[in-house]
Amino acid sequence: MKLIVCENYEEMSKEGAKIIAEQLKNKPNSILGLATGSTPVGMYEELRRMNAEKEISFAEVTSYNLDEYYPLAPDHDQSYRYFMNTNLFDHVDIDKSKTFVPNGLAENPAEEGKKYDEAIANAGGIDLQVLGIGQNGHIGFNEPEDELYVSTHLTGLTDNTIEANARFFASKADVPTQAITMGLGSIMKAKKILLLASGKAKHDVVTKMLDDRITTSVPSTLLKTHADLILICDKACLNG
Ligand code: F6R
Repeated sequence: MKLIVCENYEEMSKEGAKIIAEQLKNKPNSILGLATGSTPVGMYEELRRMNAEKEISFAEVTSYNLDEYYPLAPDHDQSYRYFMNTNLFDHVDIDKSKTFVPNGLAENPAEEGKKYDEAIANAGGIDLQVLGIGQNGHIGFNEPEDELYVSTHLTGLTDNTIEANARFFASKADVPTQAITMGLGSIMKAKKILLLASGKAKHDVVTKMLDDRITTSVPSTLLKTHADLILICDKACLNG
């Protein structure tokens, strides 16, 4: 694992954007795996700036998002499809028909998961996967459990995650209790992984990323076995 420590959130965001820019310069038709949540917002802002200033182009990019609440319509203002449109896709030269987010209204979520993984594989696999990290170590919506899923699947959200995400909804009761998420196997198949973490609240979990152990009770630790993992965090996160 390569660790990059930044002064603050802004620097972390720019560092993350730089790695994506480099990826797009080396392979303009990259398959990107994208994440939502508050952590990558600054990085998407920097990518929008780079695109507006013609430093990078998304014209040939295909993207697959990690997860989507279930059930939730794509036009709901808390859906991850809506998040991606407003934070990135609506503002850059990406072909939206080549941006994919699991269907939060799929009638058969198991089938949706299977098709999602097949589509990624048929596209050639994810070149660069962006990830945030939950305070409990969840990755996508792979929550701490004795057993984790390999493939994209429907999952229940833990109370901890519902609580953490309630800030984006009118009330905790409005937070969907399920999501469709890429599994750990789907994520680990990415050729390169970029994990972002910022702020004191992520200190404990990031500390667990830095020792030599892995456990499904902190799903993010499984990423340590990936051959090309970059963790970018800020000092507040590293030092607590
Ligand atoms: C987002 C996702 C989640 C978040 C995680 C951290 O697509 O899958 O795993 O990355 O919950 O969220 P923030 O960045 O809001 O702290």
